[in-house]
Amino acid sequence: MKKTILSVAAAIMMFAACKSTKHASTTETKPATPKVDCGMPAPTYAGDVKNIIEANCTKCHGEGGKGGYNLTSLDDLHRAGKNGDLVGVIKWSPGFAKMPAHAEQLDAKTIASIECWVNNGMN
Ligand code: HEC
Repeated sequence: MKKTILSVAAAIMMFAACKSTKHASTTETKPATPKVDCGMPAPTYAGDVKNIIEANCTKCHGEGGKGGYNLTSLDDLHRAGKNGDLVGVIKWSPGFAKMPAHAEQLDAKTIASIECWVNNGMN
């Protein structure tokens, strides 16, 4: 009888431990695992996005930038990402200005990287 109680207790403990481990690992793996699978490792600001923005956007969107965006500022970039402007303008979506202004649209891979970054928390 005592043995049964012990094994029941052990089973409950294992279950609880399992549940909490699962919880913890979800938080730990967050940066490595994209929340939205976009068929690529989640891009990062430092590794990917900063270069794209500097190459295509910041000559017009610096300090006091056009359209109210200083895209050298990560805060402004986050704001544009959250409110949909960033992805809207680079995809030339209806209702958005076409960016980069007076230039070719960014290539599909670059657009996909930015979109993936926005959809995965903009880290
Ligand atoms: C040649 C200058 C120029 C370049 C390069 C440029 N922009 Fe713009 N951008 C503008 C101007 C001017 C506006 C003002 C709004 C307009 O045209 O309607 C603007 C507006 C915006 C807006 C505000 C959205 C809106 O509808 O008003 C966003 C977001 C934006 N640009 C993002 C970008 C991004 C991202 C890039 C790089 C991929 C970029 N821009 C490159 C000139 C530029």
